[in-house]
Amino acid sequence: MEPNQRKWWKEGVVYQVYPRSFQDTTGNGVGDIQGIIKRLDYIKSLGIDIIWLSPVYKSPNDDNGYDISDYRAIMEEFGTMSDFDELLEEMHARDLKLVMDLVVNHTSDEHHWFKESRKSRDNPYRDYYHWWPAEKGTPPKRFSYFDVDGNAWKYDELTDSYYLHYFSIKQPDLKWENPKVRQEIYDMMHFWFKKGIDGFRMDVIPFISKDTDYPELPVEYNGNYVPFYANGPRLHEYLHEMNQEVLSKYDIMTVGETPGVSRDQALLFVDEDREELNMFFHFELMSLDRDGDEVFWMRKDRWKLTEFKKIHSDWDATFAEKGWGSMFLSNHDNPRTVSRWGNDSEEHWHHSATMLQTFLLTMKGTPYFYYGDEIGMTNIRFDNIEDYQDINTLNRYELLKEQGVELDAFIANEKEASRDNGRTPMQWDSTENAGFSEEKPWLKVHPNHKEGLNVADQEKDESSVLNYFKKMVQLRKNHLGLVYGDYKLLLKDNEQVYAYTRTLEDEKYLVLLSFSTETAKVEIEEAENTSVELLLSNDGHSAHRGGNGFELKPYQACVYKLN
Ligand code: GLC
Repeated sequence: MEPNQRKWWKEGVVYQVYPRSFQDTTGNGVGDIQGIIKRLDYIKSLGIDIIWLSPVYKSPNDDNGYDISDYRAIMEEFGTMSDFDELLEEMHARDLKLVMDLVVNHTSDEHHWFKESRKSRDNPYRDYYHWWPAEKGTPPKRFSYFDVDGNAWKYDELTDSYYLHYFSIKQPDLKWENPKVRQEIYDMMHFWFKKGIDGFRMDVIPFISKDTDYPELPVEYNGNYVPFYANGPRLHEYLHEMNQEVLSKYDIMTVGETPGVSRDQALLFVDEDREELNMFFHFELMSLDRDGDEVFWMRKDRWKLTEFKKIHSDWDATFAEKGWGSMFLSNHDNPRTVSRWGNDSEEHWHHSATMLQTFLLTMKGTPYFYYGDEIGMTNIRFDNIEDYQDINTLNRYELLKEQGVELDAFIANEKEASRDNGRTPMQWDSTENAGFSEEKPWLKVHPNHKEGLNVADQEKDESSVLNYFKKMVQLRKNHLGLVYGDYKLLLKDNEQVYAYTRTLEDEKYLVLLSFSTETAKVEIEEAENTSVELLLSNDGHSAHRGGNGFELKPYQACVYKLN
């Protein structure tokens, strides 16, 4: 490979830290920055290169930090700016890169800009947000993701106007059409880059450009709202401008969170020649087990492996010539990886957790792991609404209650789908609060931390999920072909086994992943008349039975080198 084609953000393995749930050092039941510093050696020991940190900015926490009231200050619960500077320094000393969350579709309603904007119609900050004067009548219907009434327009008496908030009532949308807003944001981004951060993950970035004429939605429309809300006419103009004014000036990485972006739009964001972003998180996989456009509801039947393969193969093809993908199975907005895409029963938890790790680490595209995935953390599945903390679950519960919808079905759904499944505290050891905090954690700890599902126990066990993860990360790092090699899908129609090769010049790998609770027998043409060398398996054994025959145990994963 040409050295100039190689990039640190393509070769790195990313680890997302949700600061609230990672490590508490002050005894308030909430994680903090000193806690992350304390655990940096652990993160380094995993083989991680890049940490993506969910928001640590000042925030009243209506949406756990995704509602920012000061972009240049640190949330008090998490620490101070000097803690942050120490974190960055300690990370760089360990050769770890730091990617921050950039939340600029909206601010908190407690941000100085919004407090001013709200005061009067002629306030200099008025045009920082989207206002609809009441004399124009009721604004066209817009649905809010987190509003108790589901309404994205909030009437504000003081100036007899409505403001737009696609998320909670405390998250008013910024008006990117105003050049002053864009300049403020670019300045703020420079502020963080000058401190030395290594990139941004950009929250709901397609939402920054919208159709500000607010055309009426089709009558009775109850589908996916994104096309009406996001991906507006000026989106790429803004991203290119941001790139030219800020991003291109530093050696950094960017990854957009892009709900609603389809494959045919993909290269508009990440074709290098267009100078916008490096990568983005598409939503196609995260929708696979959801009920059509109802993104928060699980579909009734189980997703099929052939569908899972198709999504990944199609996206791989999208980036075959240009751009670069990002590979993930969970994050703070989703349930736990092994519970959702694997099988967290006692019998299959270990193999399915390690099989899914193998998958992310052998695909093309930068792999992103969410804290706790390395030890196979599982969904907590709260039965009682009182245990939930997420605004998304709580406000939908209120809305459904008001509409008289059956709430048992809702709780049954949240047990699998809720974001709180993915936010329970990190399981460091088997003590009362899992080593996360001395005091009662803000969200309950999963009881299975007492049964070996914790870092301390797994570090001691050679055959643990954690130790497999470390080996698999090293395997990727030692084989450039697993990073850059071409991907080719085999056994397209098989519902038990996901099989593919990765090829870079004369290096060729074969990856076999069982997604099945039964033994699976497959024939792989590529293995005929070649030497098949097992590099790693989550079972310790090879599935190879000679020639082109393979027999995989439930959830077995094998990575072979073909010569
Ligand atoms: C993104 C974040 C999510 C947040 C929402 C609003 O989807 O990942 O956590 O609630 O944006 O900021």
